[in-house]
Amino acid sequence: MSRKPIIAGNWKMYKTKDEAYAFIYAVNVELPDREVVESVICAPAIFLKDLVKREGENLRIGAQNMHYAQEGAFTGEISGSMLKSYGVDYVVIGHSERRAYFNETDETVNLKLISAVNMDLTPIVCVGESLEIREAGTTNEVVKKQIEKAYLNVDVKQALKTVIAYEPIWAIGTGKTATPEQANDTIKAIRDVIAKLYDQSIADEIRILYGGSVNTKNVDSLLATSDIDGALVGGASLDPNSFLTLVRAAYKKEIK
Ligand code: 13P
Repeated sequence: MSRKPIIAGNWKMYKTKDEAYAFIYAVNVELPDREVVESVICAPAIFLKDLVKREGENLRIGAQNMHYAQEGAFTGEISGSMLKSYGVDYVVIGHSERRAYFNETDETVNLKLISAVNMDLTPIVCVGESLEIREAGTTNEVVKKQIEKAYLNVDVKQALKTVIAYEPIWAIGTGKTATPEQANDTIKAIRDVIAKLYDQSIADEIRILYGGSVNTKNVDSLLATSDIDGALVGGASLDPNSFLTLVRAAYKKEIK
């Protein structure tokens, strides 16, 4: 089963307008065919409209969060329908920074996932464990619970429209990447959960990314594993050349 890789940059709260535009212009002409690798930039909400206008043929734009309601009295929030109406295609859901600092819970992740797929957005659903959990040896149990809660009441059709990102919290922004074996083992465990919730063919089809200090030096070894289908990248997605190197690594692996 071949799963098309995704390299998704998560810019977090970085860049000014001019820097954001310059990045898009720099990568647009260089990105490889989207039929082979999906290249995505998840940008701060304020940039989304302008970046969608500027995205080239092989680039897609994603948001970093959304509200689960279609509309309502939720001051400061943005709905999936608003994102869709501007041509945004992906949305990161449940990033550990949102779980840690903005009260994101497994319950809101679940509601957002359902809302996103219903809006025809591709959610990139983030799960991952803390260092304490990794050291206690209970990573797989914790991640299993996160996945089960995220996919509660999600039917097969909806599940197939999602992408999962396994991001161990201890590896985010720390320069401490999970080893390819650690990342691949946990991602395999996630596939087992999906197989139990749905069936093996769904588990074989769903794309699961790794995130956490992915860079131009470690990307090849991570992508060489059996179960990692791409990367969700913070720091190394801010520079156009670095982002292009990551995308090209995924492309090279595919066309081999
Ligand atoms: P870094 O690549 O900077 O570690 O960030 C990972 C991440 O949180 C992507 O969502």
